[in-house]
Amino acid sequence: MNKTIIVSNRLPVDLKFDDQKLVVKSSVGGLATGMKSIHSEGNGIWIGWSGLTDEQIESERKKNEVEIALAKEKCISVPLTGYDIENYYYGFSNTALWPLFHYFQAYTEFELTHWESYKKVNQKFADVILENINEGDTVWIHDYQLLLLPELLRHKVPNLTIGFFLHIPFPSFELFRTCPWRDELLYGMLGADLIGFHTYDYVRYFISSASRIAGLEIRFNEIFYKDRIVKVDSFPMGIDYDKYYNSALEHESRPDDTKSELMHNIELHNMSFSESKLILSIDRMDYTKGIPNRIKSFEYFLNKYPQYKGKVRLVMLSVPSRENVPKYQRLKRETDELVGRINGQLATVNWTPIWYFYRSMPFDDLIDLYVASDVALVTPTRDGMNLVAKEYVATKTQGKGVLVLSEMAGAAKEMYEALLVNPNNFDQIADTLKYALEMPEAEQKSRLETLQKRISRYNVEKWAESFLNALEITKTSKPITI
Ligand code: UDP
Ligand code: G6P
Repeated sequence: MNKTIIVSNRLPVDLKFDDQKLVVKSSVGGLATGMKSIHSEGNGIWIGWSGLTDEQIESERKKNEVEIALAKEKCISVPLTGYDIENYYYGFSNTALWPLFHYFQAYTEFELTHWESYKKVNQKFADVILENINEGDTVWIHDYQLLLLPELLRHKVPNLTIGFFLHIPFPSFELFRTCPWRDELLYGMLGADLIGFHTYDYVRYFISSASRIAGLEIRFNEIFYKDRIVKVDSFPMGIDYDKYYNSALEHESRPDDTKSELMHNIELHNMSFSESKLILSIDRMDYTKGIPNRIKSFEYFLNKYPQYKGKVRLVMLSVPSRENVPKYQRLKRETDELVGRINGQLATVNWTPIWYFYRSMPFDDLIDLYVASDVALVTPTRDGMNLVAKEYVATKTQGKGVLVLSEMAGAAKEMYEALLVNPNNFDQIADTLKYALEMPEAEQKSRLETLQKRISRYNVEKWAESFLNALEITKTSKPITI
């Protein structure tokens, strides 16, 4: 039977050895959380990095344990060394491509050793895939860590069906052209039959780079490359809507003795302050998420509208991410200092303005947070999509809750009924927060219902189905002679 092979740097599970004991955690990030539902239902396999380096799995016992844990999840790992992770992952992927594609040009470092490692690791992924494919299989490659992989596979198996999806923005030509290896990256991606992006803007930017850098002929969303046609299109990623909606319903009706400690604390606090409101933010600790600006806008809001002091809390869950990269370490320090300063200046015996958690939380606690909050404040300075915004909306089963969303997130292109803000405009965010906190229930309900209808219809299953159907069609379309 033909299968679909999902390929990404990060597998849906992240493995670690803690005092010789294997710990299996769910991976964080939109790619992993979104694709997980698709993968668990299909008959395919998922190829990627386990989270452990070769040096960390030195004994036979550990190797076996890792293999068994991955097999349970229908996953196969690509063995990577500490050097690979340092140079390919922290290096080229996360200090060159990530900042460049998110318009943080000043953060972007182009290092030859990183690039060399990126090429080698993409080849390692290709080798593992080639060991695991059979005639008729489809390969679906994900994200910026593997831009060279489509062409590496195409070169070995010319008739293989290859899809590629980019989960982050594709930048404008002016930014992309600054990369010393822009041609290789572009031709790497063009090895695919179908290239998908979250929004139509990213599609346009990619097509413009293909035309201006490689001088390729373009007709609508088709790129004529060698003897093939490469299709490019937008597929805005959805979430497993029913999972979030039903979990929220279940959490709301839980008996007291089964509620989490987190929920008890939130409820305790709400009981002591009947008028108190909760603003939620959840993201990886990443400079693209606009975390310092968000905290400063919250401070600005409290000073502009002091009647809210003592009544509103910002609950901020920041999940540790890429902690070896200096820019991430600096962001963590900046965030700690900001939260410390604001809480130090404004807190009273009964009220702490910012509740700050620097860790990841299990799914049940995430649902509790979503359910308990009155407003979600999602303000990335740049984001490919942002699934947190969609998850928040899906958990609002009672029709109460307001989403404040950055216009720089891909999700803003589909979520017009959210309150859209410029993440750099403190004054606008402060006024929008006030509007959100005071929004009449009828308006909350009407905005949420429209959003929910849209997000439930185009859920993650639909997203994967439309991508894979479009990929299937590329098999039958014959190359056109130009
Ligand atoms: N998430 C998680 N554990 C946490 C916090 C968040 O699994 O402790 C999930 C969250 O539910 C969402 C994903 O991480 O599905 C974040 O995806 P998003 O698209 O918002 O941002 P990304 O991290 O991919 O940039
Ligand atoms: C974003 C990227 C993913 C990545 C995730 C978590 O969602 O698009 O490719 O997996 O962040 O980042 P990490 O570096 O921990 O895999």
